[in-house]
Amino acid sequence: MEQDILRTLITEQEISEKVKELGARISRDYTGKNLMMVGILKGSVVFMADLMRAVSIPAKIDFMSVSSYGTGVKTSGVVKILKDLDIPLEGVDLLLVEDILDSGLTLQYLREILQKRNPSSVRIVTLLDKPEGRKADIRPDYCGFQVPDEFVVGYGLDYAERYRNLPYIGILKPEVYSK
Ligand code: IMP
Ligand code: MG
Repeated sequence: MEQDILRTLITEQEISEKVKELGARISRDYTGKNLMMVGILKGSVVFMADLMRAVSIPAKIDFMSVSSYGTGVKTSGVVKILKDLDIPLEGVDLLLVEDILDSGLTLQYLREILQKRNPSSVRIVTLLDKPEGRKADIRPDYCGFQVPDEFVVGYGLDYAERYRNLPYIGILKPEVYSK
């Protein structure tokens, strides 16, 4: 696994400090609210597991799984819900937990669908943001790190379902794509 990584972009230590900082901010901002953290599978699982433990106020959690229609490498923006929420959203302060915000098309579509279920509020926390890739009018309310427009893996993020279990964020060697 390690031999496929060109270089480390964000270390375990840096991630850990940032997640604590985000958790503290979220805890302050959502005090007295009805926080529900919703992880978008599968990329967000590692971030979610750490972030929820950095949140010190009562919070519900749930997960959604979506897949984008079409066969292209990049997201089309039209998503199919593979696993929906178990918990209704009425009166809930929804915080969508994402691994990386790239074009923003997936989250834009998801936000539209979820807003129709009458939550009290909808916000987005993403560990990574690639602002150069943006195609939709969407900005994260909380962001861990801005990253360059390169393909990154680890800490939940995959290439062809691999590298999710890498404990840091790394840039993949280009030859891995062309194999
Ligand atoms: P988008 O914002 O709709 O383009 O989709 C974002 C999704 O694309 C993320 O949740 C990831 O699953 C995937 N993605 C985008 N950039 C990367 C990357 O650099 N590494 C791994 N997955 C990525
Ligand atoms: Mg994802």
